[in-house]
Amino acid sequence: MIAIAERTPAPSSAKLTLQTLEIAPNTTAIRSLDWDRDRFDIEFELRNGTTYNSFLIRGEKTALIDTSHAKFHDLYLNQLTQLINPAEIDYLVISHTEPDHSGLVRELLTLAPQATVVGSKVAIQFLEDLVHHPFKRQIVKNGDCLDLGNGHELEFVSAPNLHWPDTILTYDHKTQSLFTCDVFGMHYCDDSPYDEDLTLLDSDYQLYYDCLMGPNARSVLAALKRMADLPEISTIATGHGPLLRHHVSELIGRYRDWSQAQAKAETTVAIFYAADYGYSDELAQALASGILKTGVAVELIDLKAADPQEVREMVDLAAGVIIGMPPQSANTQAALSTILAAITPKQAIGLFESGGGDDESVYPIRNRFQEAGIKETFAPILIKETPNAAIYQLCDEAGTDLGQWLTRDRAVKQMKALDSDLDKALGRLSGGLYIITAKKGEASSAMLASWVSQASVEPLGITIAVAKDRAIESFLHAGDQFILNVLEEGNYQHLMKHFLKRFAPGADRFAGIKVHPAANGSPILGEALAYLECEVVSRMECSDHWLVYSTVDVGRVSKPDALTAVHHRKVGNHY
Ligand code: FEO
Repeated sequence: MIAIAERTPAPSSAKLTLQTLEIAPNTTAIRSLDWDRDRFDIEFELRNGTTYNSFLIRGEKTALIDTSHAKFHDLYLNQLTQLINPAEIDYLVISHTEPDHSGLVRELLTLAPQATVVGSKVAIQFLEDLVHHPFKRQIVKNGDCLDLGNGHELEFVSAPNLHWPDTILTYDHKTQSLFTCDVFGMHYCDDSPYDEDLTLLDSDYQLYYDCLMGPNARSVLAALKRMADLPEISTIATGHGPLLRHHVSELIGRYRDWSQAQAKAETTVAIFYAADYGYSDELAQALASGILKTGVAVELIDLKAADPQEVREMVDLAAGVIIGMPPQSANTQAALSTILAAITPKQAIGLFESGGGDDESVYPIRNRFQEAGIKETFAPILIKETPNAAIYQLCDEAGTDLGQWLTRDRAVKQMKALDSDLDKALGRLSGGLYIITAKKGEASSAMLASWVSQASVEPLGITIAVAKDRAIESFLHAGDQFILNVLEEGNYQHLMKHFLKRFAPGADRFAGIKVHPAANGSPILGEALAYLECEVVSRMECSDHWLVYSTVDVGRVSKPDALTAVHHRKVGNHY
C-alpha cells in the first residue's frame, strides 16, 4: 500500500533554508532545503518539497561533491565560503550534471579556478556546454581512485543511466560513506537529516524510484553489482532528501527487488533518445510513465552515449521501440541505422521530436519503418514550441496506447481465465454510473466510472477504483482535484457512449459535450444529475487498480427527484 506520510510543516517564512552538519569525520553536508517545490520534471509532483545535498570532504586535500540549485546561489555560496576558502578546494566531484546539482558549478569555478573537476567522460562533456570556459578536469571510470590523504581515498563507481548517462557514485574508504547524488534519493524536505522513520519516507522513496530509476532497471542492477565490490557502506549520502544511515541495506534491497521485478517483465519498450537535448528528457519520461501504467517495462537509452552493440541488444530485447529524434550527427545517424537494421515487423514503434532545434527529421525514418511493415502505435509527436501539460499528457497517453497494444493478447487471456460461476456471481455487484472529470493546466481528462463508493463521514469521503492504465490516473495523485459527475437514470446513454470511446492520445474528451468549470477548475458536465468536487487524499495499490480515497467539499443536485443511473453487469471480470 502506498500511504501518504505526514511531515514536519515548513517554517512559514522559510521557503529556502540551508542546513550544514558533520556526517562523518572531516565530512560536512550542506543541505539546501527547498520546502515548497511542488514539481520536479514532468509527472513528478512533489508532496514534501525536496533538498539538494552537497558535501565537503577534507583530507590533506579537499573535495567538494556536487553543488546546489541556482536558486540557492546566495545561501549556498555564503555558507560554503564560511566553511572553506574556495581557493583551498582541490577537487569538485560532479556526480551528475542536471542543474539541481550543478546549478552553481560555473560560479564555484569562478571562485575556485584552481579546482580540478572530476567526473565521468559524459559529465565532463555536458559541463563544457554549461561552463563555457576552460577548466581543469579529470575523467574517472569505474574503480578509479582519488587519494585526498588522511585516509580519505575516494573510489568511483560508474552508474550510467541512473538516471542520466553521466552518473558516478563516490565511496570514501575512510568514512564508509557512498555519495550517490540522485541514486537512492527521494524528494522529501525536512530538518531531520537522516532516515530514522521509514514509515514517513516509504511512499516518497518508491515514487522517486518509479519515476527516475524504474525506466532504467537493468542499469540499476548493473550499478548494484558494481557497488557489491565496495567494502561496507555505513552511510548513503544522497543528493535529495534524507541521508540513509539507519536502513541502508533495506533501502538498497528495495532497489534490487524493484529492478529485478522490472527486468523480469515479459515485455519491454526501449526508448532511444538524446539526453540533455531539447525537451527529450521530459518527453521520454512522460512516455515511460504511460508505458509503465500497462505493466510493460521501459529501458531508456541515450543515443549519444550508447555503443552500437548496446543499441542492437536493446532492440533485440524490446517488443516496442520509441525514438526521440536526436540532433543530427554522424554518431546518432549510426545509432539510428543500427535500430533500423535490427528491428523486425513483430515489433511496434513510436516516434517523437525532441524540440532541440536541430532534430533529425521524423519522416524519413518513419517511411523506412512503414516500408518495413513495422506497426506504428501512435502518430509522430511533433514539438513546435515549449511543451505544455497537454503535450506531456499526450505523451503519457501515447505510451499507454503502445503498452496496451503490446499486452492486448495477455488482457484477453486474463479475461477468459476466470471461473465462469465466480465470474457471474461477481457480476451481481452493481454500482452507479459516473464520469470523473479533471483539468490541470492545459491538460484535461475524463473517465466513465462505476466502482465508486462513499468511504467516510467525517470528513465526507469517497473511494474510486481506477485501472492503472487509465489516462486519468495521472490526474488522481494526492492533492489533485477532480469532479465526480453522477449520471441520471434514463438520461445517460449518450454520455456513456461518448466517454467509452477510444480516444487518440491527446484528444479532447469534451468536444461536443456541454461543460462548465467548477471552482476547482475541472469540468462539470451540463447534463449531470449531480456533481461532487473532490480532492485526492491517498491511494491504495490494489493489483491492477488504484483505490483512490478523496474528500468531498462541494456538491449539487440538479433534479432532486431523479435517480442515479445503475450499472448492472452479467460478469465481473471486466466493467
Ligand atoms: Fe537531481 Fe537528475 O537531478
